[in-house]
Amino acid sequence: MQEQVKNGDGIIELKGLTKRFGEIVVLNDISLTFEKGKTTVIIGPSGCGKTVLIKHIIVLLRPSSGEIYFHNQRIDNLDERELGKVRAQMGFLFQGGALFDSLTVYENILFPVKQHTQTKDTRKLDEIVKMKLAMVGMDGFQNYYPARLSGGQKKRVALARAVALNPEVILYDEPTTGLDPIRADIINELILKTQKELGVTSIVVTHDMNSAYKIGDRIIMLHNGKILIDGNAETFKNSTLPIVQGFIRGKVSEKDLKSLQVSFEDIKIDGIQ
Ligand SMILES: Nc1ncnc2c1ncn2[C@@H]1O[C@H](COP(=O)(O)OP(=O)(O)OP(=O)(O)O)[C@@H](O)[C@H]1O
Ligand SMILES: [Mg+2]
Repeated sequence: MQEQVKNGDGIIELKGLTKRFGEIVVLNDISLTFEKGKTTVIIGPSGCGKTVLIKHIIVLLRPSSGEIYFHNQRIDNLDERELGKVRAQMGFLFQGGALFDSLTVYENILFPVKQHTQTKDTRKLDEIVKMKLAMVGMDGFQNYYPARLSGGQKKRVALARAVALNPEVILYDEPTTGLDPIRADIINELILKTQKELGVTSIVVTHDMNSAYKIGDRIIMLHNGKILIDGNAETFKNSTLPIVQGFIRGKVSEKDLKSLQVSFEDIKIDGIQ
């Protein structure tokens, strides 16, 4: 059974969040409280609105209707200057890693620090970079450009950058996608370590059920703009909903299969073998 959120444990709250893009309703009246110090995992099929949901938490997107609160302060209506202060307390690991290719690892990590603080003390800045890189096992890579790093190394540097300002909240969008199982597990361990050592609240979007079970105190599945299930690993394993079982076993649904039933014969183009 899902534990009830006790009063005062919430750090981020979504109230009746609806997001439309034109005619399409991506998020439909979602209300959700994220608990302080816990890791909440968000899963769901591609295109169901996971990235859209977490972009609302740092107000990179604004709701069509509904409200977003951080520490009981409404944030979805703040202007960009005020949002800067809120965002300084949140680290964001974008889908795909998204390091700046023209900046070194050192400069990438200092990017948010320079945006949000006035510090010019080079020794202090060197120390921050060294500490954060050591945390993800990448000290010594300061002068590398992202092009010289593997996919897993880029994600680790991106994580070091996300924690550069000691945020209270870290949002991870598909942190293990594209990594082999061992490198994916290193990222899982780093997420757990970040939560334990820095006491952060983590919100992790993933397709990877192993990762969800390992790191999630709570797992939420989105479907058709709504929360389909909200619980823990056991809730998911025991769910009898076909859509949940299909998702966790990676089994394609009848509906999706139908959409694949165009034969390659049918799409042969004249003159092309
Ligand atoms: N800026 C935008 N303008 C218009 N439509 C958008 C925009 N951003 C997202 N969408 C649409 O919203 C829906 C949800 O997108 P989102 O990126 O949140 O999916 P997702 O669950 O993160 O998928 P994936 O697992 O593939 O990353 C999609 O239909 C997408 O096309
Ligand atoms: Mg996404």
